[in-house]
Amino acid sequence: MKTLVTSALPYANGPIHLGHMVEYVQTDIYVRFLRSCGEDVIYLCADDTHGTPIELNAAKQGVAPEQFVRRFYEEHQRDFADFDVKFDHFWSTHSPENRRYAELIYSRLKEAGDIDRREVEQAYCEKDGRFLPDRFIRGTCPNCKATDQYGDVCERCNKAYAATELIDPRCATCGTPPVRRKSVHLFFRLSRHADFLRELIRRPEFLHPGLSAQLQQFFSKGLADWDISRDGPYFGFPIPGEENKFFYVWLDAPIGYIATTEKWAKETGKAPDALAFWAEDAQARVLHFIGKDIVYFHALFWPAVLRAAHLKRPDRILVHGHLTVNGEKMSKTRGTFITARSYLDALDPSYLRYFYAANLGAGPEDLDLNLNELRLRVNGELVNNLGNLANRTLSLIAGQLGGKLSPAGHGEGRTVVSDALARAAEVRGAYERLEYRAAIKAINEIGQAANQFLTAKEPWKKLKAEPEAARADLSDAAEVVYLLAALLEPVVPRLSAKLFAQLGAPALGFAALGKASYPLLDRALPLGAPSPLIARLEEAQVSAITKPQAPLEAKAAEAGPSEIEYADFAKVALKVGKVLAAERVPKADKLLKLSVDVGEGSPRTIVAGIAEAFPETSKLVGRSVVVVANLKPRALRGVESKGMVLAAGPGGKELSLVDPGAMPPGTLVK
Ligand code: 2FM
Ligand code: ZN
Repeated sequence: MKTLVTSALPYANGPIHLGHMVEYVQTDIYVRFLRSCGEDVIYLCADDTHGTPIELNAAKQGVAPEQFVRRFYEEHQRDFADFDVKFDHFWSTHSPENRRYAELIYSRLKEAGDIDRREVEQAYCEKDGRFLPDRFIRGTCPNCKATDQYGDVCERCNKAYAATELIDPRCATCGTPPVRRKSVHLFFRLSRHADFLRELIRRPEFLHPGLSAQLQQFFSKGLADWDISRDGPYFGFPIPGEENKFFYVWLDAPIGYIATTEKWAKETGKAPDALAFWAEDAQARVLHFIGKDIVYFHALFWPAVLRAAHLKRPDRILVHGHLTVNGEKMSKTRGTFITARSYLDALDPSYLRYFYAANLGAGPEDLDLNLNELRLRVNGELVNNLGNLANRTLSLIAGQLGGKLSPAGHGEGRTVVSDALARAAEVRGAYERLEYRAAIKAINEIGQAANQFLTAKEPWKKLKAEPEAARADLSDAAEVVYLLAALLEPVVPRLSAKLFAQLGAPALGFAALGKASYPLLDRALPLGAPSPLIARLEEAQVSAITKPQAPLEAKAAEAGPSEIEYADFAKVALKVGKVLAAERVPKADKLLKLSVDVGEGSPRTIVAGIAEAFPETSKLVGRSVVVVANLKPRALRGVESKGMVLAAGPGGKELSLVDPGAMPPGTLVK
């Protein structure tokens, strides 16, 4: 049976980063593994192009969204190709195929009575003339009072709330307080499919049991229907028969899987159309690899939509966890937000593919890219164990023994090869179960056994006196190298290709290994030219990929102030303050420690670089100042400063404090 495999569609809204790569590497390994087993498999992906964030980012850059997403289309494909992630087709959700299937599916949902019209009230920005999704409303958290939080969840206290609960809500784009406005939305009646879904997600062959348990929460509250429409302006497909309404990005994103199948079918001629995989009765398997954050869409919404549209539901949803780098969430300031391109500029993709495989299991646990461990594992396993086995074996045969193998033997070497071969099924099973780390472990054990054999036999000492004995030992070691190249091929295809070429042997896969016996190599054929498999990974190379990005302040200072959005300015809370006390900061001749009443009950300590301009500190007491009130506290010369006072002038002695006039402390400066 043919198999269609997909990875989640990346948003055409930014570069591919190493967090994304976990999924693409995991999927690509699986696809290569299936192919190696002789299966008929296609691997498809596309850019996910619609929705408000993309529309607004395009507007910020002053380009049409179509043009904005086109840039990423090329860039993403280059990144994937350079990581050896090989799609049969990479397409886009902003495509005629996707529009056609979105419209077709919608019309079928309507016909089936699965679409409902309901009036909903939402935040609306009158200035921008648009409804505001939760992520586009900012305000103060109703729970912990942190300022500048999104409309759905507070990044400081993690509390989830409704956008209506935000204190002092504002449009994230223009800073205007939103109003409430009603509009009719279209809902997919997910609730009608509750029984089907409950039964489906219980199947372990469909979804990891731990995840299906998590999804139960949606059923206990009663499965909510799904709003699939958005009012314009919106970058997406217009909904047929509706005025200024568009399909919500999450409706047409998974349909992108079908659209890409259609495009692949038409381009290659290998199937008449997408229905070869997606018709209700198609003789095909569909597997989706996704991250744990989008299980709801793929395991509930998507199968129900397909069912209602009389199409084939996915057979399996394979879910991985998220990536952390050195134990923490990727962060731009720590320099651990590593893009695919910045990695590729510094390091060989095989290192990362190997490391990810060595750490991936079948479950949705997070994977930590500990950069020190990356270096140690790559050097210890890929370079010292597997690379060294290949290198010493092949270079001795090529350099000292005329590149010729000996006829198959009956000695200890044969046992080493047979034992190794016997473990191929174990490795195959591990890949099959997506337990790549178990596959890598077994592969390393096979390599170690062959290295121990060589170390015991010391063929390099026998080259002169007993060249045929040396050749026999090395030929058997070459057999193991051949086997390892086959076993590793899904993970590091370019290294395996290199080994096949050095062995002068055809590519070997799991399909052939199932029936293979000693000897695997055609012993009559000469070897190719040897070369080291892969270079050691040096500490400096690894640290080069984590360059912290300059903090924003420093960057802005370098470049001079540039134009900002209203929303950026709206983030700054300026308040009137009154200086209650001022003293010098010891050993810092530019700094004063001020105690400032900002109308909060107790005064704040603010450290200001104004000491040279105010040699008589007493003259400051009683002065009104303008305070930047929502700066994160920071320590200056051991004193925690909470805010900043505004001053004008070039600095040093030439500074005057900005005077807000006779307003009381705490008054907002606007
Ligand atoms: O979460 C994401 O990055 C989405 N772009 C994934 C879409 S997958 C599929 F449904 F299209
Ligand atoms: Zn606005």
